Amino acid sequence: MAIDTLVIGSGAREHALLWKLKQSPRVGKLYVAPGNGGTALIAENVPIGVMEFDKLVKFAQEKRIGLVVPGPDDAFVGGIVDVFQAHGLRVWGPSREAAQIEGSKAFSKQLMQDAKIPTAEFKIFTDSAAALAYVRTRGAPIVVKASGLALGKGVYVCRTTEEAERAIQEIMVEHVHKAAGDEVVIEEYLEGPEISVHALSGGVTHVLFPPSQDHKRVEDGDQGKNTGGMGTIVPVPWVTPAMMADIENRIVIPTFEEFNKRGVRFQGLLFPGLLLTKDGPKALEYNARFGDPECQVYMRLLKTDLLDLLEASIDGTLDAIRDSIGWHRGFAANIVIASGGYPDAYKTGFPIRGIAEAEQDEHVVVFQAGTKMDNGQLVTAGGRVLSVSAIGSTLKQALDRAYAAADKIHFEGMHYRQDIGAKSLT
Ligand code: AMP
Ligand code: GLY
Repeated sequence: MAIDTLVIGSGAREHALLWKLKQSPRVGKLYVAPGNGGTALIAENVPIGVMEFDKLVKFAQEKRIGLVVPGPDDAFVGGIVDVFQAHGLRVWGPSREAAQIEGSKAFSKQLMQDAKIPTAEFKIFTDSAAALAYVRTRGAPIVVKASGLALGKGVYVCRTTEEAERAIQEIMVEHVHKAAGDEVVIEEYLEGPEISVHALSGGVTHVLFPPSQDHKRVEDGDQGKNTGGMGTIVPVPWVTPAMMADIENRIVIPTFEEFNKRGVRFQGLLFPGLLLTKDGPKALEYNARFGDPECQVYMRLLKTDLLDLLEASIDGTLDAIRDSIGWHRGFAANIVIASGGYPDAYKTGFPIRGIAEAEQDEHVVVFQAGTKMDNGQLVTAGGRVLSVSAIGSTLKQALDRAYAAADKIHFEGMHYRQDIGAKSLT
C-alpha cells in the first residue's frame, strides 16, 4: 500500500527530499508543513509551523500519515521524534536525547572527549569574565561558539583577541543568540579544507554517503560572514576512499559507539562537519540531520529509493539493504542564491523570474527555499532563496550547468558565490 508521507520544514533541503520521495513508487500522497513556493508544485503545503508539534501530530493522525520526515535541526532538538512516537506514528530521525549532539556544542565536545575523537582543544564557559580572561591568555586566532542552535550564526572565527572579546560580548552579555549563548565553547583554531560527512544510522549499523563540501562563508574566496551554506559539491574529488575510511574509523564509528555505551539509540543522520588538518581529520561539530545545501546534491546523486533508506534507518535494517544502495556516476553541484544583505538583514517580496528557463537544461533542478506565491507571482520570502542544482559526468560539467542555470534567474538584490567547487577543479 502506498505510504502517505509528511515532510516537515520549508527549505530547499525539504524541497529536495520531496522531489526524491516523489520518485518512489511506494510513496502515496505527499504533504509538507509549512513548505514554500516550490514545494507546493510537487506536494500539498500544510500551513503548520515546524515547532507546532501538537498540530502536526493531529494533522498526521487525521490524514493517516504513514511516514513523517522532519528536516530542520530545531525540530529534532526540540524532540519532534519523541512526540510523534508517543502517538504511535512512524517518524524518521533522532530522538531529543540523541539530537543533543547538535543542540548543544558543550554536549558534543564532551562526547568527543569521552570517545577520544580528534577535535579542536576547547573549554566551556558560562561566565563572560572567565571567558574573556581565557581568550586573553590564549590569544588569537581562536574560535568562540554559542553552545546552542543559532541559525548557523553562533560561531565566531576570530583573527584577533579584540574580535574574540567582541564575540563574547555579543553572545554572553548582549545575548544576541538568546539562550543559545548561555554556554560558550572557546576552542583552538584549526586549519585545513572542510568537508561534510553524512552517515545514515539505524541505531546499530550505519551507511556512509559520499563526501560532500559546503561553502559556508558568504563571499568568494571564503571571505565574509558565516551562513547556513552557500553551495555544495558531491563527491569531493580529492577525498580518497582511504581518507573516508580514516574518517569513519576515527570519528563516525567512535561517535556511534559512544551513543551505544550511553544506551542511546541514534537513528537518523549523523552529519559531522570536519576539517582535514595536517594532523588528520578533526571533528568541528555534529549535526543530526541532512545538511542544507548538502541534501540537495545528495538527492540529485542518490539512485536508491529514499523511502527504502529512511525505512531501513527507522527499522534498524540498513545492513540488509547496504549492498543495494547506489549513487549515480558523476557529480552534483548546487549554487545557493540569496537575498541582498543575507546573512544579515534583508528585504523580501521581490518577484523571482527565470526558474523555468534555468530548468530547460534537463540536468538542472531548482530547489526553492525562501519563496512564496503572492497573487500568482513567486516572490522572495527568506535569506537563502533558491538552490540551483545540476548533475554532470565531471565536476566541471556539473558546476558549469549549475552556473549557466543560475545566470538565468533574477530577483532584485540577489547574490551567489561564483567560486563554488572551484578549489576542487584543479
Ligand atoms: P560549526 O557550526 O561549529 O561547524 O562552525 C561553523 C564554521 O566555522 C565551520 O564550518 C568552520 O568553517 C568554522 N569553524 C568552526 N570551528 C572552527 C575551528 N576550531 N577552527 C577553524 N574554523 C572553525
Ligand atoms: N550546510 C551546513 C548545515 O546544514 O549545517
